[in-house]
Amino acid sequence: MVDCDPGVDDAFSLGLALGSPELDVRAVTVVAGNVPVEQARRNASRLLHLFGRDDVPVAAGAARGLIRVKPPHPPVHGRNGLGGVELPEAETAGSGEHAVEVLAQALREGSPGRVTIAAIGPLTNIALLLSLHPELKTSIERLVIMGGAIGTGNITPVAEFNVWADPEAAQRVLTDPEVAICLVPLHVTRRATIRQEHLRTLERRTRHGTLLANIVRGYGDRHDGGWPLHDALALAAIADPALIDTRSAVIEVDTGVGRSRGQTICAFDMPIEGWSGHDFPVRKPSIAANLKMAVDLDVERFRTMLLDRIPAAIRG
Ligand code: BDR
Ligand code: CA
Repeated sequence: MVDCDPGVDDAFSLGLALGSPELDVRAVTVVAGNVPVEQARRNASRLLHLFGRDDVPVAAGAARGLIRVKPPHPPVHGRNGLGGVELPEAETAGSGEHAVEVLAQALREGSPGRVTIAAIGPLTNIALLLSLHPELKTSIERLVIMGGAIGTGNITPVAEFNVWADPEAAQRVLTDPEVAICLVPLHVTRRATIRQEHLRTLERRTRHGTLLANIVRGYGDRHDGGWPLHDALALAAIADPALIDTRSAVIEVDTGVGRSRGQTICAFDMPIEGWSGHDFPVRKPSIAANLKMAVDLDVERFRTMLLDRIPAAIRG
């Protein structure tokens, strides 16, 4: 399942997931983040239509944050979240069911402990899922999250967008000791760039290549001579875990309203045995074992995956 807020890099994540033989995308849920939730639903439906997958259900979830109303949508994804590119209208409008219930149903129907959730937007829907359906946590094999910044942020000097957009939800999810989490943070995803020459390859390889390439060309996030496709790295790492190196870590989110709101505070080892920083007693091994954080990636392997799998996703 993919919980997202399309979003240029979300769009490429969906393509990568649909074109990966290791993955079977059961549902796409959306949350307010890069764009309002209704626009995110429209974008997700149109993307699935482009990839010939109108059969994948799309469900809209939270329009606002858990505690605070979400901050304004960032302009980097263009006026419609897809770099200003107008994709053809989708045939289906979604079921009208709430995203959290669609996620819960997919967990009930999946093989116990075998379902992976990719969370590549603000974590509101996921926080609600874990709170409303705690009995389903055992069905989750892994929750792979794009979010957090260790070092410089991208929306404030210290905060990464997905965490900053709903820090309370992020704190709720990232400190849940009962879910195996892989966090793919900004300092790693910033290196997962695609450049003009890769876009030209994409254009040659698939009939929708120009539409997809233009979505990236309308993306305001530029780094190191290319466009970082943050979310696509999280999806790529689900299909091919060897793509990233990880380390066990403990993460806390600053949920205050000061200048460091949304900052992710990371420790690779617990400073004091028996103290977790959480407001409940957790022993060091259990808390440290359930969260792995990406610390490095193989950039060329990521680009090769992207350029092979996006064209493979386009059907019909
Ligand atoms: C994250 O924020 C969004 O703008 C992107 O889609 C990605 O999920 C990167 O900080
Ligand atoms: Ca996103």
